[in-house]
Amino acid sequence: MIKFDFTSMSNFNADLLNRKEEVYNKFDEAYMTGWTKRIDDSLIDDFIATANEVKKHSSVLVVIGIGGSFLGSYCVEKALAPYFVDNSFKVIYAGTGLSSAYMSELLDYLKGVDFSINVISKSGTTMEPTIAYTLIKELMEKKYSGEDLTKRIIMTTDPVKGTLRQEVNEVGYKSFVIPDDIGGRYSIMTAAHLFPLAFNIDLKAFVEGYYEGAKYQEDAFKYAVARKSLFDQGKVVENYVVYEERLSYFSEWLKQLFGESEGKEGVGILPTSTVHTRDLHSLGQFVQEGNKILFETFIKIENSSKVKFRNYDLNEINNIVLDSVRVAHKKGDVSSLMITLPEVSEKYLGQVMYFFMLAAAYSGFLFDIDPFNQPGVEVYKKEVRENIVI
Ligand code: PA5
Repeated sequence: MIKFDFTSMSNFNADLLNRKEEVYNKFDEAYMTGWTKRIDDSLIDDFIATANEVKKHSSVLVVIGIGGSFLGSYCVEKALAPYFVDNSFKVIYAGTGLSSAYMSELLDYLKGVDFSINVISKSGTTMEPTIAYTLIKELMEKKYSGEDLTKRIIMTTDPVKGTLRQEVNEVGYKSFVIPDDIGGRYSIMTAAHLFPLAFNIDLKAFVEGYYEGAKYQEDAFKYAVARKSLFDQGKVVENYVVYEERLSYFSEWLKQLFGESEGKEGVGILPTSTVHTRDLHSLGQFVQEGNKILFETFIKIENSSKVKFRNYDLNEINNIVLDSVRVAHKKGDVSSLMITLPEVSEKYLGQVMYFFMLAAAYSGFLFDIDPFNQPGVEVYKKEVRENIVI
């Protein structure tokens, strides 16, 4: 069971709790909430079967996507991957930027291995994945041909619209769908993330955990209220704090989820993140004594690997430090919220992701904005399209 502690903060505005019915109604009326509906079991079987097919002829899968078509699977993959002895199937990511160094080294690397690609773009028009796909496909066309080429390209895109769907229809690539009523950053329970995850994690446990997350609906609303209360007191930055290095990309996912859902029409809380204890020796100074614009949300992991250190278990020390840091920061007028996971596993990652997605949507409604659009991202995409023709 995940535990929530929203008490170590000043001035929780209980009046905001009265907006619950209004917020729940807005959520129920919203179209882009397809991620609360159960995914078809046959799709999960298809992701696993297709991953097994790919493993037969490829030693690497290149996942091409950005933003909501990237961060979900990436953060789960990273959170569950071993630190050192990693025997998992190699899944690498491309199309998350425009670094020519990254692309050139990737192409060199791919020349020497048998690989497949999964191109993920709901719109099918996003520049970074389009460029990565084009360059990698050029290489594939030199290495493979006919059926051998076709079977190595798997598309995940809109069911009807866009250039990727058109290509699927013309060439007959294996394809998956991102449903119309699910936006990028809320798409963890779609092929966009579940297919790449099918290569290395216990997918069924993750899916089950995700839907169990619905039981935290009230906690998600309370968390949204706690954040809004703090915002109304001038705490405009939320720092997500993890005490496990491999959860650092989970914070990146949170930053996208809340930043893109909430930051519009001149409002919203700016999400930032730190990894402790490392960052206590850098940003820790600012948090303790700097400008009082922030509050923190700690993610605590109750149980981890057992390492004995004198009279303690190392994870126990990590958590004692976490509790002490919360107290120290509170003394520096920095409030904090805390979410405790029993362990880092498919089940609890699924649960907590559902919790945070509900909270992001509720927060958006508390801010009186639409948590499901991202008009600001479109502005940059349009500007780029005016300057580059690709
Ligand atoms: O959350 C979102 O909607 C965005 O971050 C998109 O996922 C991102 O811009 C990529 O879009 P697309 O999947 O259309 O390539």
